[in-house]
Amino acid sequence: MSDRFPVPDRVRHGASGPIPDLATHRELSARAIANPSGFWLDEAKVRLAWHTEPTLGLKGSFHDIQEGPISWFGDGVLNVTESCLDRHLDSRGEKVAILWEGDEPNEIRRITYRELHAEVCRTANALQELGVKRGERVILYMGMVPEAAIAMLACARLGAIHSVVFGGFSAEALRDRIRDCGAQVVITQDEGRRGGRSVPLKAVTDAALEGERGVEKVLVFRRTGGEIDWTEGRDVWWHEAVGEASATHQAVPVGAEDPLFILYTSGSTGRPKGVVHTCAGYLVWTSFTHEAVFDLREGDVYACVADVGWITGHSYIVYGPLCNGATTLMFESTPLYPDAGRYWDMVERHRINILYTAPTAIRALAAAGDAFVEKYDRSSLRVLGTVGEPINPDAWKWYARTVGEGRCAVVDTWWQTETGGHMITPVAPAIAAKPGSATLPLPGVMPVLLDERDRVIHGPGEGRLCLEMPWPGMARTVWGDHARYVSTYFGLFPGRYFTGDGCRRDDDGYYWITGRVDDVINVSGHRMGTAEFEAALNSVEEVAEAAVVGFPHPIKGQGVYAYVVLQPGFSGSVELEAAMNKTCRAQIGAHAKVDLFQVVPGLPKTRSGKVMRRILRKVAEGEPEKLGDVSTLADPSVVQAIVEGARTL
Ligand code: PRX
Repeated sequence: MSDRFPVPDRVRHGASGPIPDLATHRELSARAIANPSGFWLDEAKVRLAWHTEPTLGLKGSFHDIQEGPISWFGDGVLNVTESCLDRHLDSRGEKVAILWEGDEPNEIRRITYRELHAEVCRTANALQELGVKRGERVILYMGMVPEAAIAMLACARLGAIHSVVFGGFSAEALRDRIRDCGAQVVITQDEGRRGGRSVPLKAVTDAALEGERGVEKVLVFRRTGGEIDWTEGRDVWWHEAVGEASATHQAVPVGAEDPLFILYTSGSTGRPKGVVHTCAGYLVWTSFTHEAVFDLREGDVYACVADVGWITGHSYIVYGPLCNGATTLMFESTPLYPDAGRYWDMVERHRINILYTAPTAIRALAAAGDAFVEKYDRSSLRVLGTVGEPINPDAWKWYARTVGEGRCAVVDTWWQTETGGHMITPVAPAIAAKPGSATLPLPGVMPVLLDERDRVIHGPGEGRLCLEMPWPGMARTVWGDHARYVSTYFGLFPGRYFTGDGCRRDDDGYYWITGRVDDVINVSGHRMGTAEFEAALNSVEEVAEAAVVGFPHPIKGQGVYAYVVLQPGFSGSVELEAAMNKTCRAQIGAHAKVDLFQVVPGLPKTRSGKVMRRILRKVAEGEPEKLGDVSTLADPSVVQAIVEGARTL
């Protein structure tokens, strides 16, 4: 029997969101499943500002997904920025929309809804001058400055499609994404600031664009004033272009199903996929989930300390909170700068009510000791969120008890880039928590567990997690490759969306995500494909072959374990390991690092040449006794060498 944490009183009292209690959760779940079109159409009408209200709900199903993307609210016409900005001007014009805290604790900016609206209009006008039009793609390669959110919204205002590339990605990774979506404009900044250091964003952009002809303009925001190279005719200063532009701009009305953004994410191949989210369904989903799960209240200061380069930043720093008229905090630094008290210092100074972070940060902060937490007043906190990877019960309890002093709800939100927003999660005022469990599906979400013979598991059990029915926030397609979307998510189990995660359902119907069962690894909440690492390692001269798997890591959740077969005449060394990691960094990004290398004589392969990754995973996980049947291997002797040479942290 696992621990149960009931909803704390101060969360239950005064709950004002769409799901204030368990009875409402049950009622809405029943309605959303009985009539998904009607249920979400009602939400869409009240949550969004429309030029033409939709009359249609869901069109299409997972059974005919190969025919084309599903659609929600297909006859509606809107511009998402009117829901996020214009609509609030009368009632919340002077309310702080974005509360920014820079790398140094004394760098603070407060931008009201009125100011944000004006800045977005200016930026939209400036982008229009640079030639950006409806349907065109704009790449953002920026740090955590308000201008990143402003740029996203300015693209949306024009009906253009933004694609934010996380500032840790390398020039090569950035170039691939620019090419894949055919962007003509890139928005960046001179440098980013993080943890007391500068991040050379413009220099990486320059390197990515070397020899490329597609990008015509680069808009550069000045963050640090650091020295940068300048390409005349191509590069444009933000403060010049935006500063001179008019603060009024008529939003471009677009279809509900027009793409809002593309976000590249890793899968089981070496090539990242451009996941496409569309305007209305995504905004309905992020707005509904943000308000319900965190039980957002009007005066709340809400802080999601993710990066806008990932889906969490899109959905729960920018779109969901702004659609809900919230005060959303943007944080440029790291949880450990200048020391491990930074989050709690911010909580005290800004009177934060809702804090949303990741298990990796929670574990790192717990390891730093309670004194950093206790030094600060956390009495404003009401809801604590976590996302991105499974959270171990110890970290969960530390978050609830030491940070939240037992007064706060902890919401362990399970979702993915592809789902657009929360899917299986506690709803703060409605669902009792169990540490480590994402608890119950939200209204309209139908999880299914499949066993190893692809049969549906009823009642308690463990299997592969699929989702049964379309929901408004789901990704519609992969940019330029709908067939890849269909095969990736619907190929294995036709008629169902396969999440790639394993999951257990307990006697109470609570869901426990066990982690990825495909070739995706999740390091500190950064999602990477093993194939991306393998492609990088294979390009190193000394390497003949490489196979990469994840292994449990005490802080990062998962670490990266690489098995490498070297070319004849070479042997392993610290220098070679450094060279291999340098290549990963150059080809993928600063967040891509192999933790453990093992040089092996060969990889365990079946007679048809397929690498048996199960064996590699078990050895990396420190469980060589659980290898199972190895008799189908072409050369079983390599297994012994792999087991004997296994590395640990
Ligand atoms: O494995 C799951 C894990 O993160 C994956 C999705 O990664 P990404 O698309 O980068 O989105 C991260 C932010 C939503 C999932 O397939 N994951 C996410 N949240 C949780 C989680 N695993 C366990 N518990 C969670 N709360």
